[in-house]
Amino acid sequence: MTSNQVANGSDALLFLDKKRTYFIRVRSGESFHTHKGFIRFDDIIGRAYGSRVRSSLGEEFAVLKPSLRDFIQKISRRTQIIYPKDMALIMLYADIRPGSRIVEAGTGSGALTVLLADRVRPDGRVFTYEVREEFLDIARRNVERMRLSSFVEFKNKSIMEGVEEEDVDAVVLDLATPWEVVPFASKALRGSGYFASFSPTIEQTIKTCVAMEKEGFVAVETVECLVRRFQVKEGMTRPETLMTGHTGYLTFGRKILTD
Ligand SMILES: C[S@@+](CC[C@H](N)C(=O)[O-])C[C@H]1O[C@@H](n2cnc3c(N)ncnc32)[C@H](O)[C@@H]1O
Repeated sequence: MTSNQVANGSDALLFLDKKRTYFIRVRSGESFHTHKGFIRFDDIIGRAYGSRVRSSLGEEFAVLKPSLRDFIQKISRRTQIIYPKDMALIMLYADIRPGSRIVEAGTGSGALTVLLADRVRPDGRVFTYEVREEFLDIARRNVERMRLSSFVEFKNKSIMEGVEEEDVDAVVLDLATPWEVVPFASKALRGSGYFASFSPTIEQTIKTCVAMEKEGFVAVETVECLVRRFQVKEGMTRPETLMTGHTGYLTFGRKILTD
């Protein structure tokens, strides 16, 4: 079991209420300032996650151990990122597991890269392709922030120039023209390996499925994940009025070897 104590240099989520949460790195001698007063990190260090701490203005915050979902929701970004609900499906449907070797494109802000890298630990690897160097820099910083750099190889290259890796377990795409990548993905995948692609529009999805069929992929399926949040209060429980109505479609398939 990992330590449940806040240490100097560790991460914490300061929770005031559902809308006001702060992802912080705890450093001795420093403090965190909010509109509800400041919190001295020395008041947190050595305490158990799940404790409460009071700010200089007497406001009570919970000190939570942050999850990857907490980090991804706060991640520094210059691109659209994949929502946690869609990431969760990718992990299971593409069978991302410890030891997996994964090819990803495009890296974007590295939100998905963070989760992939965490899942393939301790002996797997993520090879992630991104054409824009400025995005790759942000992604590198995000992955480093979660101390996952040793599981990721960043490639400042277009995946359309070909995939350099062979016999990979999965190819995971989040870019505008995934259908153009299908032949490269097919070449890079081991037999039975997984193709996964996220696209915001149905036109992109159709082109991708057609390309996959041409390339001989089996178990091709497209799903959309809608998450409906509820306000739960005795006698007043119902879905929240507003929801994220659409993010994208997820297409999956499995590589078949040719004789
Ligand atoms: C929507 S973003 C990816 C976001 C990422 N999934 C995340 O969660 O942070 C799409 C990225 O694909 C990159 N891209 C587009 N075409 C590419 C290509 N041929 N090879 C590599 N990256 C590409 C873009 O520059 C952009 O950064």
